[in-house]
Amino acid sequence: MTLPFDGAISAYFETGAPDDIRDMIRSSGKREILSDSYPYDSYMKTKAYDEEIEALQIELVKLLAWVKSTGARVAIVFEGRDAAGKGGTIKRFRENLNPRGARVVALSKPTEAERSQWYFQRYIQQLPSGGEIVFFDRSWYNRGVVEKVFGFCTDEQREQFFRQVNGFEKALVDDGIHLFKFWLNVGRAEQLRRFLKRESDPLKQWKLSGIDVKGLPLWDDYSDAISETLTRSHSREAEWTIVRSDDKKRARLAAIRTVLNALEYDRKDADAIGKVDTGICGGPDVWNA
Ligand code: ADP
Ligand code: AMP
Ligand code: MLT
Repeated sequence: MTLPFDGAISAYFETGAPDDIRDMIRSSGKREILSDSYPYDSYMKTKAYDEEIEALQIELVKLLAWVKSTGARVAIVFEGRDAAGKGGTIKRFRENLNPRGARVVALSKPTEAERSQWYFQRYIQQLPSGGEIVFFDRSWYNRGVVEKVFGFCTDEQREQFFRQVNGFEKALVDDGIHLFKFWLNVGRAEQLRRFLKRESDPLKQWKLSGIDVKGLPLWDDYSDAISETLTRSHSREAEWTIVRSDDKKRARLAAIRTVLNALEYDRKDADAIGKVDTGICGGPDVWNA
């Protein structure tokens, strides 16, 4: 299979990327984390990760059992730049859950009909029914970030989005939906390294899109749109949780712990959940452009 942008990422790496980013990737070891401000130098060891994630997945099974028996509704939004690890984090949440109670929503770009609707309408249709956990792999926050960066919406549409989003989320929470909003934060060199890997791995190429390629030189435009979005949509009812995802393993553990800690399900084992790593996970102050 030949992709339309075959080689575009390596070409950008060689000729377009900022020198310091290219140097950082070239001079780093495979297990080295490519972010100067990240609190660890290397990736978490697999053995420790496997033990911790297993304990957390047992808790997730209990959580879903509670959701089903009480008819609770849980909606978890995953946002982040391309290759931040949204898909992989959702996969670890759901690994041992009944897919019927733990659904993923990954909507494509809006159709003509959807474009004519209220912006939130197609997402509302996907909200959880009683007994469901719904994972949003991207969400209504497209309007805050990618649609801004690529000009897919007008400034007026985006302003309207910001006028409505906090009230919209408040309505969901008032109605009893447990809403989580995760922003997975990946650094520029780490993102580029992941793109290079995806480009060279036939099993990962499906994760690449034209948007990813076109977005490479637009890092700063993204940063501006993200910063504005996090600021304007961090409300008391629906706070953002930022997870630095330069190390995917630590990021997954932190995200799962955040959800488990927040919900009072039956047979909850606080010791098994453990503490969220506050060095990589917290409020908007954790965000790092
Ligand atoms: P992903 O990273 O989720 O695999 P892409 O990188 O291709 O997907 O696109 C990022 C987001 O931008 C997706 O949610 C997609 O639906 C959205 N998008 C792409 N093209 C458009 C468009 N023309 N109008 C609005 N949204 C779009
Ligand atoms: P993967 O898709 O998991 O094989 O990893 C692709 C890229 O993700 C690697 O080249 C690393 O840049 C990055 N990565 C992030 N976190 C980790 C981690 N904990 N272990 C290994 N690679 C990681
Ligand atoms: C991710 O891995 O962050 C997403 O699920 C896929 C992408 O945006 O490239």
